[in-house]
Amino acid sequence: MAAPAREIASPPPFTMKPLSPVGGVEIRGIDLAAPFGDEVFDAIMDAFLEHHILVFRDQKLSGEAQLAFTRRFGEIEEHVGRLPNGEKYPLLHVIHNLDEDGNPVRISGGNYFWHTDKSYHAVPSLLTMLHAVETPSEGGDTQFANMHMAWDSLDRETQEEVSDLCAIHSWEANRRNTNQSPATDVQKRERPPVRHPVVRSHPVTGRKALYLGIHTSHIDGRPKEEGHAFLNRLLRRATKADFIYTHKWQKGDLVLWDNRCLLHRAVANFDMESERRVLHRTVVKGTVPY
Ligand code: SIN
Repeated sequence: MAAPAREIASPPPFTMKPLSPVGGVEIRGIDLAAPFGDEVFDAIMDAFLEHHILVFRDQKLSGEAQLAFTRRFGEIEEHVGRLPNGEKYPLLHVIHNLDEDGNPVRISGGNYFWHTDKSYHAVPSLLTMLHAVETPSEGGDTQFANMHMAWDSLDRETQEEVSDLCAIHSWEANRRNTNQSPATDVQKRERPPVRHPVVRSHPVTGRKALYLGIHTSHIDGRPKEEGHAFLNRLLRRATKADFIYTHKWQKGDLVLWDNRCLLHRAVANFDMESERRVLHRTVVKGTVPY
């Protein structure tokens, strides 16, 4: 199904520069904190569907302004995760490498592995938005892998083999796959395993994409070990260098990406113990993959 064509009355009031053959477009000349009309938003949406990753430079956004921009794309997703004090994450939460006193520390976590946000939910995320508030002098990149390209690259036989498969995704699998402490009973209750197609159709453009990542456990209906190994092999093929765009952050970048056709991961390529990396994150709820 093709995206419905929209009439755009005049050229968008911003400039666009494609960033890589994999996706990504740099947008300049728009202040996302200032009000703008639906025709501008429609142009942003068209760019999002075409390029999958939008990079707005030099944005000075308050938390409220980021939430307001996020809301234009749909319902803001609540987080099941909890802060160390037991409270739920706020709608806008902060990704950082700081200890309780605000000093940079070495961190690791699931976001350093290839994933698509919240695929352990029955209704996973549509898009994720990060605003770079503090960036290291070098590194601290985020990588994106294009799952349309990964699907297109498979030979016909493999496409036929994976087309009808469903994978089980779960928070429990995430913890296991990322060598972290096991999911607690509360987490398992709050985030039970879900089943998603290994190949999904983008709900707007209709293009097919592999739907994989570190939240997967096994293939529904196959022996667990065998399915797990199969998914790992597919993930390795799907994340080869040809399908990857690496985003090098600049302070003020507002980056948003389409979780329905991309995997992403943070890269631990900065001096975590002496440099600060602080990003404000919001997420829009998606639809059930099919
Ligand atoms: C994320 O996985 O949502 C965050 C990625 C990053 O920290 O670069």
